[in-house]
Amino acid sequence: MSQVNDYVQAHRTASLEELKELLRIPSVSTDESLKGEVSRCAGFVEGCMKRAGLESSVLPTRGHPAVYGERLDAPGKPTVLVYGHYDVQPPDPVGLWRHGPFEPTVEGEYLVARGATDDKGQFYALLKGIEACIKVHGRLPVNVKVLIEGEEEIGSPSLVPFIQGEKRRLACDYVVIADSSQFAKDVPAITYGLKGLVYLELIVRGPKKDLHSGSYGGSVQNPANVLARMIAACQGPFGRVAIPGFYKDVRPIEAWEREEFARLPFDEAAYQRDTGVPRLFGEEGYTTLERKWARPTFDVNGLLSGFTGEGAKTVLPSVAKAKFSMRLVPDQDPESITALVKEFLQDIKPPTVEIEVLSHHGAKPVLVPRSGKGVQAAEKAYERGFGRRPVFIREGGSIPVVNTFQAELGAQSILLGLGLPDDDAHAPNEKFRIEDFYRGSITMAAFLEELGRL
Ligand code: BES
Ligand code: MN
Ligand code: MN
Repeated sequence: MSQVNDYVQAHRTASLEELKELLRIPSVSTDESLKGEVSRCAGFVEGCMKRAGLESSVLPTRGHPAVYGERLDAPGKPTVLVYGHYDVQPPDPVGLWRHGPFEPTVEGEYLVARGATDDKGQFYALLKGIEACIKVHGRLPVNVKVLIEGEEEIGSPSLVPFIQGEKRRLACDYVVIADSSQFAKDVPAITYGLKGLVYLELIVRGPKKDLHSGSYGGSVQNPANVLARMIAACQGPFGRVAIPGFYKDVRPIEAWEREEFARLPFDEAAYQRDTGVPRLFGEEGYTTLERKWARPTFDVNGLLSGFTGEGAKTVLPSVAKAKFSMRLVPDQDPESITALVKEFLQDIKPPTVEIEVLSHHGAKPVLVPRSGKGVQAAEKAYERGFGRRPVFIREGGSIPVVNTFQAELGAQSILLGLGLPDDDAHAPNEKFRIEDFYRGSITMAAFLEELGRL
């Protein structure tokens, strides 16, 4: 193992330069105009897999391509499928970046670029760990398959059917994912719970064109006012969702889990300070970690209506739109929740407007086992990579395919977080701690060795 360590240390600069090259490709999956760049990124990832010593190929899906690599050196030993995503979120608002979002820059102990932590830096760390293992030992101690997709940030619409159609090729015992984060700096974490998601858009239509708000106000109802009332009706003052039936399938947090959350070294004051809010918020009767990880939420993600330019314009807008989403916990089901919300909005809609509700993406909530040989190997590996045993946490984010791996491949996912909670994923100046990139590689190599010993 010290050989793997030496290998990773000896290749620090080369690995970082390669990661920077990957980060220079603007693989924004939601942006149609960047389709070519997304494909180019898939090609680049395929090249990395080849150089690492895997047999690799770009696999077309009905959307952006996935990249697959494998090396099946160890008959009779377990098979690990590494999953990650090479697509990224849009860089907006671009003006708030300290440099171009696709011009990776080292700032102190961090590498700053869109995708640095989510997920290019993280999956690349794993890939480099596999490479180190192959270069040092000439082979892998377990069978390894790698699947890096290009549509995670848009809800993995093509990968879910792709996995269903490729069950044999993807058959495995464990799925390893680095797409979450450590609990805190130098407190590595294995994530055993992810939230689900329902993302909707409400469109309220009133008059057939914008009207003078003096001439028509008071006699024609304003769609923006209606939209505000309807959205407000979905949520109580402390964030509790007010849609009838919403909590029907919510699994209560058990006592052991509350105790475990409470024992984590969570610095609530620092958490508040980092966000810049005057006060934290949330459902009564729950702690901050419980609200973040184990209670469902409702959030408006975007609002659009009327005049939003500089200055003032007295207008009664014709249309108002809100994008909003709900994070779900076990055992809530995205489809049933969507139906409930649509029904509720139709019920409360006044007769003075028309409404339309669009469904964007969704994901099922998941809990994965916290025990078993794979998790034990991961715990030992973390100890070797980070010098510390990991804590077990849940997260508020969603990874749509984790549920699919469980349901279609019967494989348990092991979520190794390498990022930090304040890496600013999806936000300007996204970053990844460079030391954690190397530690991630060592952890991955150690994981393969530990699993090979079983
Ligand atoms: N890596 C995140 C998921 C995540 C975030 C896991 C925080 C753990 C902690 C992933 O790339 C992501 O952003 N997922 C989307 C899913 C959606 C687009 C279907 C999310 O959570 O918003
Ligand atoms: Mn991600
Ligand atoms: Mn993301």
